[in-house]
Amino acid sequence: MAGQSCKESILIVDDNAITCEVVQRNLELEGYHIFTALSVEDATKTLSKQRIDLLITDYKMPRLTGLDLIRYVRDHFQDIGIIMLTGYGSINSAVSAMKEGADEYITKPFTDKELLSAVKKNILQQKEKKIDLDKFYNDSWNQFGIIGQSQNMLATYSKIEKASKNDAIVLISGENGTGKELVARAIHYNHKVRSIYPFIPVNCPGIPASLFESELFGHVKGAFTGAVQHRTGFFQAAQKGCLFLDEISELPFELQAKLLRVLQEKEICRVGETQAKKIDARIIAATNKNLAELVEKGLFRQDLFFRLNVITIEIPPLRDREDDIILLAKHFVLKYAEELEKTPPVFTDKAIAALKKYYWPGNVRELENLIHRNLIMNDKNKIDSLNFPDMMKFNIEYDQDLNLSLEEMSKKYVKDVVEQTKGNKAKAIEILKIDRKTLLKKLK
Ligand SMILES: Nc1ncnc2c1ncn2[C@@H]1O[C@H](COP(=O)(O)OP(=O)(O)OP(=O)(O)O)[C@@H](O)[C@H]1O
Ligand SMILES: [Mg+2]
Repeated sequence: MAGQSCKESILIVDDNAITCEVVQRNLELEGYHIFTALSVEDATKTLSKQRIDLLITDYKMPRLTGLDLIRYVRDHFQDIGIIMLTGYGSINSAVSAMKEGADEYITKPFTDKELLSAVKKNILQQKEKKIDLDKFYNDSWNQFGIIGQSQNMLATYSKIEKASKNDAIVLISGENGTGKELVARAIHYNHKVRSIYPFIPVNCPGIPASLFESELFGHVKGAFTGAVQHRTGFFQAAQKGCLFLDEISELPFELQAKLLRVLQEKEICRVGETQAKKIDARIIAATNKNLAELVEKGLFRQDLFFRLNVITIEIPPLRDREDDIILLAKHFVLKYAEELEKTPPVFTDKAIAALKKYYWPGNVRELENLIHRNLIMNDKNKIDSLNFPDMMKFNIEYDQDLNLSLEEMSKKYVKDVVEQTKGNKAKAIEILKIDRKTLLKKLK
């Protein structure tokens, strides 16, 4: 594992700073690695950046409550233990906490001993649960080459494992190049029965609307002008295997209805034929857009969305998986060094820092291409400067421009970031680490 030792990390969430501090001190004495957050919002930020083994959260907090946090954690990270702190006598909150997926609750006020015994018990339980996951990770390491040990990826592995044990529809979402197809293949090829049958990827936006039925369901000879031969449709080709519907959000509205009907009825009719045929293909869909949002805007059918939204896997962007960046970079160095028959070069500290700092709009694919290019061009045994696209370059060039005052530099930097993020304020805010108000002020 990356970083320091492998002592467990615990996140304490309480709007009362003193409670946080007391609990922190006690648990630190026991050797745990402690993070604290004073609000649910802070807590989710920490969760997306750090590997956390156990969450200890207060129930009552202003705005979002501990219950909201539990819901969030259970949606995103299955394998974090949760202990809820509830006020004396509020049995109702304890019950709802357990319902939402907390492992345990402790009523306030509690003794150090009570807390510690709950923590120890929980961490032990989590460890027992994790063994299976490690097995999956090791088994499939070579087969699929999915790399990553961030909390987010561990949660993804556990979902892959679950999904590969049944035939439910899976919806994978994530930005471009985050590994959606890789995950879809991992699910399919881990399936005991289906894995020996084909995995058929279909790029939804690539199918012309007029040929949709013929491509997906097939046609018989003479069904229409140009149908000079029988054609097997994608559904038929994926029989007993898996049909991967990529970029499903791009499917035109009227075709969404046709797809929905097939998913409901589980049978298709080839074009030019009247007799329906049973189909048995597992469906995995992928999208780089937020389908729920498209539904709200009326751009995606709600009924189809509900049908697809059974097992959902959200793959986070690479910039939110800081530890995985280096792991992946090293993996791609080995991969392409072998392919190019070169000695694998090592990264200098400067290159490592640059890799971590970059925004990675193209995610893992961009990282892979960058390393591949570097290995083709670079004949040294070190990777010192990477040929990043412009956005990265300007970061580096600043280090050398010593004629600007701090104020001028800051202005130029903000302007460049806004330009590079093409006016996407959310992205700019994230890179600049300032809030929206400050950004608007600076833009003025
Ligand atoms: N966790 C990972 N470990 C190793 N390689 C990865 C990982 N994630 C992605 N890749 C690699 O990055 C590239 C892009 O992955 P993939 O095609 O699965 O992404 P995608 O999300 O389907 O992208 P797009 O939205 O552009 O279709 C592939 O070469 C894949 O092997
Ligand atoms: Mg893809």
